[in-house]
Amino acid sequence: MSKFFKTVSWIYFLAFIELLLSPSGASAYSVVRFGAKGDGRSDSTSAFIRAWMQACSSVRPAILSVPRGTFLIRSVTFTGPCRSRIQFAIHGILVAPDNYYAIGNLGYWIQFHKVSRLSIIGGTIDAKGAGFWSCRSSGQSCPQGARSISLQWCNNVLVRGLTSYNSQIMHISINRSNNVKIQNVKINAPSGSPNTDGIHVEYSMGVTITDSTIKTGDDCISLGQGSMNVWVEQIGCGPGHGISIGSLGNSFNEGGVQNVTVTNSVFTKTQNGVRLKSWAKPSGGYARNIVFRNLIMRNVGNPIIIDQKYCPNNICPHQNSGVRISQVTFTNIKGTSSTQAALTFRCSSSNPCSGIRLQDIKLTYIDRLRRPTLAYCENARGSNSGTVFPRSCL
Ligand SMILES: *[C@@H]1O[C@H](CO)[C@@H](O)[C@H](O)[C@H]1NC(C)=O
Ligand SMILES: *[C@@H]1O[C@H](CO)[C@@H](O)[C@H](O)[C@H]1NC(C)=O
Repeated sequence: MSKFFKTVSWIYFLAFIELLLSPSGASAYSVVRFGAKGDGRSDSTSAFIRAWMQACSSVRPAILSVPRGTFLIRSVTFTGPCRSRIQFAIHGILVAPDNYYAIGNLGYWIQFHKVSRLSIIGGTIDAKGAGFWSCRSSGQSCPQGARSISLQWCNNVLVRGLTSYNSQIMHISINRSNNVKIQNVKINAPSGSPNTDGIHVEYSMGVTITDSTIKTGDDCISLGQGSMNVWVEQIGCGPGHGISIGSLGNSFNEGGVQNVTVTNSVFTKTQNGVRLKSWAKPSGGYARNIVFRNLIMRNVGNPIIIDQKYCPNNICPHQNSGVRISQVTFTNIKGTSSTQAALTFRCSSSNPCSGIRLQDIKLTYIDRLRRPTLAYCENARGSNSGTVFPRSCL
């Protein structure tokens, strides 16, 4: 055999061995090899960054793995673009330092920036937000607060099987990112924790959130300006403030929300069920082609609500929302309300809601006096079909 062929077969042999070691054919990078320690105390931030840089520059698909153990990390940005697809496989727990300033200053704890073909699989993250929440409630000056996971300008992302505890502010933020799938995540923060939204979407297209359990102090899921083609299915929400579109219309120039479906989900003891919310201010924003379908409400404050008069601390007196809300369908929504206000459509007088459709609604009041639930309409236009209880005001 010529020397050339010997060399080639030797290369194939080595590649074959590597394939055996890593069945997916991907190159594996364990953070421990880069100096991370799973003792819960040592700062592993720079080891994670070194491991990321190696994995991200791999020509072959890369797996960056975090083994069992508790790894302490400060704010970190994992920057792309990477040369191939990359999987963040977390078997252990990532924790933030006890001092909330360590992650609170930059707006994020774990950020992915301009990464495409990313999957984040498994793992538990704990931002230890309680110190930050009490700083805020004490009225002291506090850092701005960190989103636990922030996807910025990322495309083709899968997050599967992640558990997130006690974020300072949002748990998962998806911003300027397209084609993002969130599956089987568990989010856990106490019902009184401020602004701890479960999953927030903004300026992103093609986001699906499925088979997840979200217990938190703010919205389970919030879809902000520029959210398009969003699918939400099989969510257990509560405690929390429900699934919301908004708040929209805080600024004049903002992207609309379009083509959103929320289906086959259960709300338990939440402040709201499904909600659209906009500031009572001039705005060029809109929300249209929204479907809420097959939902169960258990003891929910406002099971169905559109509120265009959002104006905390009365900072927008005598103004109307400029956000145009149209083509919003509520189908097969059943269960109990913890207030009499089961259906609320409080729309803008300058931009009435149009194309609101109610079909097969049955919402009863949890009340020992057996009072009925009520529907309230203001500047709302639309139609009803099937059984609608309480009796519709459209
Ligand atoms: C989304 O990204 C824009 C532009 O990068 C930024 O100004 C904004 O604050 C981000 N919002 C969130 C919720 O991350
Ligand atoms: C609406 O969004 C879904 C994903 O949720 C997508 O499959 C569908 O093509 C979108 N429809 C339009 C008209 O863009």
